[in-house]
Amino acid sequence: MDKHKTIPMIDLPRLHSKYAAKLDDAISEVLDSGSYIGGNALTAFQDRLSTFLNTKVFGVGNGTDALQIALMALNIGPGDEVIVPAFTYAASAEVIALLGATAVWCDVCTETFNLKPSSVELALSSKTKAIIAVHLYGQLADIEAVEKTAVGIPIVEDTAQAFGAKFKSGKYQGKFAGSVGVFGAFSFFPTKPLGALGDGGGIACNDQVLYNKALSIARHGQKEKYVHDIVGVNSRLDTIQAAILNVKLDYFERELIRKAEIKELYYSGLNNLENVSLPTECDFSTHVWHQFTIKVYQNNRDKLRTYLENKGVSSMVYYPIILPDQRAYGSMIERTSLSNSRALSAQVLSLPIDPSMSNNDVQFICKSINEYFAK
Ligand SMILES: Cc1ncc(COP(=O)(O)O)c(C=O)c1O
Repeated sequence: MDKHKTIPMIDLPRLHSKYAAKLDDAISEVLDSGSYIGGNALTAFQDRLSTFLNTKVFGVGNGTDALQIALMALNIGPGDEVIVPAFTYAASAEVIALLGATAVWCDVCTETFNLKPSSVELALSSKTKAIIAVHLYGQLADIEAVEKTAVGIPIVEDTAQAFGAKFKSGKYQGKFAGSVGVFGAFSFFPTKPLGALGDGGGIACNDQVLYNKALSIARHGQKEKYVHDIVGVNSRLDTIQAAILNVKLDYFERELIRKAEIKELYYSGLNNLENVSLPTECDFSTHVWHQFTIKVYQNNRDKLRTYLENKGVSSMVYYPIILPDQRAYGSMIERTSLSNSRALSAQVLSLPIDPSMSNNDVQFICKSINEYFAK
């Protein structure tokens, strides 16, 4: 068998080895400081992130908490509806159900994988209290179109997969993902565009009142120590993770550049395949290439995946079952056709796009895919 070597989706130890000494120093500094909750490293990271994104941000435990706290700050609860794409990671809808509200599914565009504004319109009702706009795979959902469709409904940006993506045109030109909705929810899960060495998350908000409320919710509902005005949760970004993220932010831009080079290699190595379509870049957003997701037609997706696996190439299906078809979410509301989401779940295949992978690795993956279709 023409077995190359194992190519993982992302090789984090290899990626981190490039700046391991700096990570070690950052960790040692926290160790020596004795401040393991809060402290200078957290303040420094939050300040830097706020400057980078040009919006106020504070750290929380993970991206799921960020979404939940945002919805809590908007008083979402039983009887309320929240519109969310059917084609996303479970966390985007889980938080709605956890608060006793109802998820109402909207469909996504087959080209961008992001929510389809005309489908959001069909999902609206007098009970709609918020919309979760997920920026899937690394590029922005069309927030401006959603705002025009659902006038006055707060938008929470699920920015778990698109840290660093920017609007290229329109009303929000130059703004970052997560900085234009009423709340932006970030995940710093290790494989995410900006990843910690464990769990981490952040909440961005431009409205001072809502910002303070969300911050208080994340601190057990306290504004002052031991004074609890509302019921909250405990969700903090660990000091040590903040110190690590501060180092990783220095390498963020160059990792984006490398991922864009890899994307180009895929484009040139996978052109002209009849049963494959390559991801498109929409005109109003930059792409941070959290995933390089192809669509594979004619029931070839799973067979191609197995073929690649036998060649030592990892690939992933994000996501094989759409949320309305999951037992946990069967009771939520399907008010509009979800045909694009259902079709995509049988077609999508994400290929490795790891800033630390070599050109040879990408070329080997392309060669293997071409071989599969030449059989
Ligand atoms: C779209 C999306 N939303 C939310 C989350 C939740 O983030 P976390 O794992 O940090 O809770 C993820 C993480 O995979 C995600 O991909």
